[in-house]
Amino acid sequence: MEKDVYILAIESSCDETAAAVVKNGREVLSNVIYSQIALHTEYGGVVPEIASRKHIEKINQVIEQALSDAHRELSQMTAIAVTYGPGLVGALLVGVSAAKAISFAAGLPLVGVHHIEGHISANYIENKELVPPFLCLVVSGGHSHLVEVKAYGEYKIIGRTRDDAAGEAFDKVARAIGLGYPGGPKIDRVSKEGNPDAIHFPRAKVESGEYDFSFSGLKSAVLNYLNSCEMKGEQVNTADVAASFQKAVVDVLVEHSMEALQKYGYKKFAIAGGVASNSSLRKAFQEACEKKEIAFYHPSPVYCTDNAAMIGAAAYYEFQKGVRHGFDLNAVPNLKLGERI
Ligand code: KG4
Ligand code: ZN
Repeated sequence: MEKDVYILAIESSCDETAAAVVKNGREVLSNVIYSQIALHTEYGGVVPEIASRKHIEKINQVIEQALSDAHRELSQMTAIAVTYGPGLVGALLVGVSAAKAISFAAGLPLVGVHHIEGHISANYIENKELVPPFLCLVVSGGHSHLVEVKAYGEYKIIGRTRDDAAGEAFDKVARAIGLGYPGGPKIDRVSKEGNPDAIHFPRAKVESGEYDFSFSGLKSAVLNYLNSCEMKGEQVNTADVAASFQKAVVDVLVEHSMEALQKYGYKKFAIAGGVASNSSLRKAFQEACEKKEIAFYHPSPVYCTDNAAMIGAAAYYEFQKGVRHGFDLNAVPNLKLGERI
C-alpha cells in the first residue's frame, strides 16, 4: 500500500488569500478562502498594492484555519504547495514566501504550481474518474485558453485570446452597464431576467488562429450600443444587454471548443476558471456535449474561482513525478503553462 500524501496548498495570485489540505490529489479535507472582493469593489477592480497588503495580513490565519478544518497538524503534511505564477507579482510573493518559510521550518518538500494548471486540476476533485487525455477550456479573469491535457502536467495550448480574457470582458461590460465589480456573477444573475436575442452582438472570428478568441470587439460593440442608446435618448434594458452579451461570449466559446473536440478527436471535455461557473455557459456545454456524446466535466463554482484546493490537486501529480522546488523559488508573474522554472 502506498503512503497517503497530504498537501498543504497556498494560493495568493490575485485577490483571494486561500489555503487547503488535499489528500492524494482528489480529496479535499479543507478549503479556506478569504476573498478580498469587497475591498476592491469601491475601485472597480483589483488594486495590486491593496491585494498584497491584505494577503500579508491574512495568510497565516488562512493557513492555520485550513489545518484546523482538516483536523491535521503541520507535522502530518507530506508537502507544501504554492502558486508561483502567473499573477500579480506582489500578491504571488506573499504565498511563495509563506510556503518557503513553512517548508524550511517544518522540513517539508516544496512544490511550486502553475495557477492555470491548478484551475484545470480543479476538475479532478469531484470527478474521480476523470484522467487525461482530455480537452479543457480555461476561462478566467486573466486567461482564455483551449488546452490539450495530454497527461498529468503535460499541456498543449491550441487556442488563446488575442486580447481580453473572457472574465475581463464580463467585468468591463458589467462596469459599463452599471452592475459593478466583479462583473461575471452579476451579469450571470441579471441575464436570467433578460432576452439573449434582444440585441445581436458580433461573434468574432480570428483569422489564422483557428481556435483563438477575441473579446475586445464584442466589448466595443456593447459600448457602442450603449452610446447610441444614450444619443437617441432611448432607455437601456440592462438585463437584455447582459443576456445578449453573455450569449455572444458563450456561443463563441462553445463553437470553438466543439470544433476543436471534433478535430482532435477527444471524447472528454472539461471547463475551468472563474467564468466556468457561469450558469448559461455550463448549460450550453452540457447540451452541446450530450449531442456529440462527449463526457462533460466541470468543477463546482467554489472550485472554479480561485482557491487552494485546486493547487493541492495539481501539486499532487507534480509531487508524484518528483517535482521539488528549492528555496530559490520565486514568483513568476508571466509563467507560461507547461513551463518549469
Ligand atoms: O479564476 P478566477 O477566480 O481568477 C482568475 O484567475 O482570473 O476568475 C475570475 C473571473 C472574473 O473575471 C469574474 O468576473 C469571472 O471569473 N466570473 C464569472 C462568473 N463568476 C466569476 N464570469 C461569468 N459568470 C460567472 N458566474
Ligand atoms: Zn484564477
